Amino acid sequence: MISGTSQRPVRLGLLGCGTVGGGVVKLLTDNAKYLGMRVGAPLEIARVLVRDEKKERVPELDRKLVTTDPELVLGDDTIDVIVETMGGLEPAREWVERAIENKRSVVTANKALLAAHGPDLVERAHAAGIDLAFEGSVGGGIPIIRTLREAFASDWVRSLTGIVNGTCNFVLTRMNEAGATFDEAVKEAQNKGYAEADPELDVGGHDAAHKLVVLAMLAFGARTDSKSVPTEGIRAIEPIDHRLAKRFGYVIKHLAVGRDAGEQIELRVHPALIAQSTPLANVSGVLNAIALEGAALGPCMLSGRGAGDMPTAVSVVADVLDVARALRSGVPGLMTRGIQMQVRKVVPIDELRSRYFLRFNVENKPGVLARIALALGDAGVTVEQMVQEEAPSGVHVVMTTHQAVEKELRKALVAIAAQTFVVRPTQVIRVV
Ligand code: NAP
Ligand code: HSE
Repeated sequence: MISGTSQRPVRLGLLGCGTVGGGVVKLLTDNAKYLGMRVGAPLEIARVLVRDEKKERVPELDRKLVTTDPELVLGDDTIDVIVETMGGLEPAREWVERAIENKRSVVTANKALLAAHGPDLVERAHAAGIDLAFEGSVGGGIPIIRTLREAFASDWVRSLTGIVNGTCNFVLTRMNEAGATFDEAVKEAQNKGYAEADPELDVGGHDAAHKLVVLAMLAFGARTDSKSVPTEGIRAIEPIDHRLAKRFGYVIKHLAVGRDAGEQIELRVHPALIAQSTPLANVSGVLNAIALEGAALGPCMLSGRGAGDMPTAVSVVADVLDVARALRSGVPGLMTRGIQMQVRKVVPIDELRSRYFLRFNVENKPGVLARIALALGDAGVTVEQMVQEEAPSGVHVVMTTHQAVEKELRKALVAIAAQTFVVRPTQVIRVV
């Protein structure tokens, strides 16, 4: 172990050296002198585990350190900190658990792992007296985990609303502002290193749900998992929705929403119309932002680059720094000890009260509008704004509603879907 006075380097074992891991190697190399001064000992990359030894890597990486044998990292007792930037559930879970059992502090950017096993890993780290740090798991370079863990430690988070998936925000922005197709925009996000190895995790909303589970752990002390988070992605959003949203004074963003609802918590991930005048509406491209509402503090918003090699590396290396300093000072585990969780039930989405954007594609014939209005009225849904325009087949009847209960709205939409005048399924997007 590292003593309080020794100049022995803090030795790091890296699991993975792709987009994020490559950024970590680059930052550790470029800022080595400064980082060493801050820790009081050099940070040394001891070993780097990858799958394919022959793959091209960042030029800063010393190829002699690269291995495909996990034992050379996990079985090396001289390694002090394991930095996991591999992704996926297995073998990441097994290897992180093993590192914790061997009393090695762990830094990870793996939100899928944390969403599935976060509370268990935190408890294991706590029991082992070491740190499990995960700033890179949410919001790329935005210090949201620290903010919740430290700055909000004295307050109570009432709600959070975040743009937490850089790929979704990038794709929606490119479609809205540059007229890119969905596929073109996803390809671009992949080329820039924003997307997950499986981009369906991004565009399907699952990555945002993973992040929301991690945020809820800190913001609401909630022990939950992404299966209990109602999740929708952005595949169903069409260019016409962006245009019509703009016409009503909104933009479409992919949001993660959490709210402390007393005994229960509200957690959900979905695209939403947000008013053009709000700060979140102006968070574009790969930028992420998380708006928090503290009971005592009131509103607070953090924004910055939410994906990509260097922004994420900034968060990961900041964690390495904290963990290394704690080791050198002989007080590992403080970071993780502050995280307290209990099981919190998630409010069913059926019970949500929200406003809605509805786009009906229907035949252009007398009585259709009246029947739509009747079905909505029967469900207690009232219309706020409405326009009608020609569609390739029939017309688009587009409206925003006043607040309605989701279950009641869905009943009305089922009744409307059964009508013969419906040309295509109705688009439904929540308005926040
Ligand atoms: P990536 O580019 O695919 O890199 C993954 C790295 O892990 C690669 O070096 C890969 O080896 C290695 N690896 C994967 N499975 C392995 C295994 N079983 N054994 C040994 N090595 C293995 O992924 P990434 O974009 O850097 O993401 C890594 C993690 O960071 C994920 O959890 C992701 O969710 C998270 N994250 C990513 C971003 C981002 O902007 N990309 C931002 C925040 C958090 P090879 O190179 O040989 O294939
Ligand atoms: N794929 C993720 C995103 C990476 O696009 O936000 C950052 O967590």
